Amino acid sequence: MLLPEVIARLEPKETGRYLDGTVGGAGHAEAILEASGPNGRLCGCDQDGEAVQAARARLEPFEGRFEIRQLNFVELGSWLDEGTIDGAVLDLGVSSHQFDVAERGFSLRFDGPLDMRMDERASLTAADLINEQSAEELANIFYEFGGESGSRAVARAIVSERRSGKIGSTLQLAGLIERVLPRRGRTHPATKVFQALRIVVNDELGRLDRGLQVVWSLLRPGGRLAVITFHSAEARMVKLFGRRLALPYRVDGDVDLPEFRHPKPPEMTWVSRKAVQPTRAEVLRNSRSRSAQLRVMEKL
Ligand SMILES: C[S@@+](CC[C@H](N)C(=O)[O-])C[C@H]1O[C@@H](n2cnc3c(N)ncnc32)[C@H](O)[C@@H]1O
Repeated sequence: MLLPEVIARLEPKETGRYLDGTVGGAGHAEAILEASGPNGRLCGCDQDGEAVQAARARLEPFEGRFEIRQLNFVELGSWLDEGTIDGAVLDLGVSSHQFDVAERGFSLRFDGPLDMRMDERASLTAADLINEQSAEELANIFYEFGGESGSRAVARAIVSERRSGKIGSTLQLAGLIERVLPRRGRTHPATKVFQALRIVVNDELGRLDRGLQVVWSLLRPGGRLAVITFHSAEARMVKLFGRRLALPYRVDGDVDLPEFRHPKPPEMTWVSRKAVQPTRAEVLRNSRSRSAQLRVMEKL
């Protein structure tokens, strides 16, 4: 996704060392290795063991120039030293593989277990949330992380349904939601609830918040960070992260008032502050790219 747009802004160099923190099917990783020429190197990680296998297989032609590990990007400090990376990519969200395999439980298209874990070693699944949280907690999850305005009605229907047994499959949950929320247009009425569950199961926002700081610390001066987001909460987090780095002062606490400011040099300049969006041709080819937004920053 946004492949030429990422490569044009990372400008991989001959002797550069690059990081893909969400290596997935290795599309970006492969393009970086190709663009950086025979001496460029790539470190990649993904929390999903299947993605790590797929990435290693795809990158075989570049043997000796890459290393891929199964890691969450918040853990990258345990592998890589600060100030040693020339450019990094975070392509957030769900991979095509995760969406296309029914057993992973991400998709509304196939029946599968309500799993949604990107990291198969984690313990919390979507089924745990659906079957164990109170109606109020579920409604909050659907509203906060999915923006679902019918969150309370859906939560009540779930709690009522589970009195007659566990809700265990994707299509069972999708069907239940479809009975509560009328279908409008082509988007399935359960889309927002599924997004909210996935974000919570994988603690996507908490990890992005910490991960941005970890990945930033790995960059050398002049190094670039490209982040592709898929929903507004992720985009907001990236913009706020960038804004703080670009300021000529640091703020104590959360409130930016003049009396809490301490001067410091700006640490970042935007390569693309305004979100870069996919071309019409890419959206036609891959409808999931329609909400993708790329932002790129350079460390000073
Ligand atoms: C959209 S896909 C990446 C696709 C990849 N750029 C490509 O070209 O094939 C996102 C991937 O990021 C992984 N991921 C998401 N959050 C992560 C995190 N906090 N740490 C490590 N991997 C993560 C997911 O498991 C998934 O495989």
